[in-house]
Amino acid sequence: MGNLADIDENDLDLTTLMTLGPMAPVSNPHRIYSALRNDNPVSETTDTTSLAPGDGVRSFILTRYEDVRMVLRDNKRFSSDIVQRTIGIVMGPTVVGMDGQEHLKHRTLITPSMTPRVLKGDAFQDVVRQTADDAIDKFISEGHADLHHDFCFQFPLAVFVSLLGLSADHLDQVHRWVMDLCLVAHDPEKGLIASEKLLEYLTPIVQDKRENPGADMISTLVTSDIDGEQLTDFEVVSFLRLLVLAGAETTNHLLGTACYVMLDDSKLMARVRTDRSLVPALIHECMRWESPISTVVREAAVDTEIGGVQIPKGSSVLCHIGAANRDERQFKDPDRFDIDREDNEHVSFGYGPHYCAGSHLAKLEAEVALNALLDRLFNLKPDPDKPYRMIGFSFRGPDCLPVTFDPA
Ligand code: HEM
Repeated sequence: MGNLADIDENDLDLTTLMTLGPMAPVSNPHRIYSALRNDNPVSETTDTTSLAPGDGVRSFILTRYEDVRMVLRDNKRFSSDIVQRTIGIVMGPTVVGMDGQEHLKHRTLITPSMTPRVLKGDAFQDVVRQTADDAIDKFISEGHADLHHDFCFQFPLAVFVSLLGLSADHLDQVHRWVMDLCLVAHDPEKGLIASEKLLEYLTPIVQDKRENPGADMISTLVTSDIDGEQLTDFEVVSFLRLLVLAGAETTNHLLGTACYVMLDDSKLMARVRTDRSLVPALIHECMRWESPISTVVREAAVDTEIGGVQIPKGSSVLCHIGAANRDERQFKDPDRFDIDREDNEHVSFGYGPHYCAGSHLAKLEAEVALNALLDRLFNLKPDPDKPYRMIGFSFRGPDCLPVTFDPA
């Protein structure tokens, strides 16, 4: 299947891979991770990821499942403050960069806006389905599309815009700002401008919701309260900036991978098309097989040790959850995509105190979206003239998904 080789992957080592950036054009980095897991599971790197500060601190990368889980669960030895000092520059203060009591307080304040009880309501599911159908309506008569661009990418952001109660007319503009935010490590000026623009755009909306709360997510966030303490307008806007990025970019890759595996295996697609009860298992295995977010960073808060390797205080520790999800110590035949897998406790939503707050929403969106595609696109196949492949280091997903189907 689609394999454009613009770099020779056989010559690639970890350092080169990391310098190629979060969406490195590398279709199979798993060979490198497998060697690391077996020979050098706590490996010092000469380079840091684009999420780390690059200020001369020592950096280590972990590739084994148990090491990754140990670090993510231990917020005392391994702090998330490094996240605050990196993406916090464009996001502002958010849960993902906080530790201990401060994290707990913020997490408690944001949780009511994302409970499954709110998300599982029929009204919300109808909105998500309608959003998927609207996206499909735009290309279904053509008989061909790039599912990555025309669907996987557009759909989660459109859900977010409606979930937040923002005007659909602003979707394209919000989309552009989000893209600039994503690229902050490569173009800091653009990232900072987008961050400012989102602040200017969202602040009056947040202020208005505080005065006139409705049933949307922003209203739930501004009215959430513990012991009389509420999030400030700036904290709410910061959180929303995190959400558009955390919510839209990741779900896009998850959907892309799900389409990729079905296009790759027509029998699998036929099986899922006929038995929709398999959709959650398909999503779950996609999350493990190619983790949409592949790396999560922490900082050693004390001098410490992992697997016999000394980690000085202040070092950055990159937990490679994509590599951990293919650890042969945890998963049988880990490189194989297996929808019937039972041993599937992947760490793609993270682990421990920072476990993804939006996991229910992500799974719901992916389920509704895949069902909409399978309900409406018949004879769905890869376009034989247009290759595509999985890419990425910090994020994983297909680079494009050109397909053909029966026009309707
Ligand atoms: C497939 C989709 C998604 C994936 C793979 C994913 C993955 C993750 C991971 C790995 C973390 C842990 C970060 C860390 O430990 O530093 C995380 C945290 C988080 N995610 Fe997601 N996420 C997804 C979708 C979403 C969505 C849709 C939302 C919003 C509704 C969301 C909101 C958050 C938030 C707020 C946190 C921070 C939680 C905390 O720090 O306590 N995510 N996500």
